[in-house]
Amino acid sequence: MIRPFSLADLNAILQIERESFPKSPYDRRTFIELHTFCPETFLVYVETADQREQISGYIVFIPEGRIISIAVLPSQRRKGIGKELLRKAMEMTHLKRLRVEVRRSNLGAQAFYSRMGFQMIGISPNYYGNEDAFILQWTPSIEKTLM
Ligand SMILES: CC(C)(COP(=O)(O)OP(=O)(O)OC[C@H]1O[C@@H](n2cnc3c(N)ncnc32)[C@H](O)[C@@H]1OP(=O)(O)O)[C@@H](O)C(=O)NCCC(=O)NCCS
Repeated sequence: MIRPFSLADLNAILQIERESFPKSPYDRRTFIELHTFCPETFLVYVETADQREQISGYIVFIPEGRIISIAVLPSQRRKGIGKELLRKAMEMTHLKRLRVEVRRSNLGAQAFYSRMGFQMIGISPNYYGNEDAFILQWTPSIEKTLM
């Protein structure tokens, strides 16, 4: 199930963040700010087993069309969770366009976005300090031709 983030999810999100971005995880304060500024577009993916909820992933994006972050627990990857979260963002974006920056070295995420119909539209040199970002973009017309 996908639902909006609530502050009770914070510790689970921080755990996903630390495991997903060991070099530069967002901290507690950043997620609280994201919750304040993007209350409807900070979403979590919840799985229920033995009546217990587990937060397996999250996505936060700006409705005008920019993904701030997406991550799935390493143990839960390649099960379609990232795809479901991104599809939800595609449905909710006002302008039917999404952009995202991805580290040049993050080949897994690049493959994921490519599979989801994103195309590279530019490079931001040293966007991450000493590493470039690839700028990727999705529009419905691109998706139709690729998927
Ligand atoms: C990127 C990420 C969110 C994908 O989540 P996920 O739940 O594993 O993705 P899905 O299972 O929905 O993958 C959908 C498709 O994308 C492609 N894909 C996803 N991860 C991939 C990888 N590491 N390598 C190659 N292709 C990949 C595959 O085609 C996959 O379909 P398949 O498993 O049937 O082959 C996850 O790997 C992650 O959290 N990474 C670390 C954080 C990160 O880099 N976030 C992006 C920052 S911009």
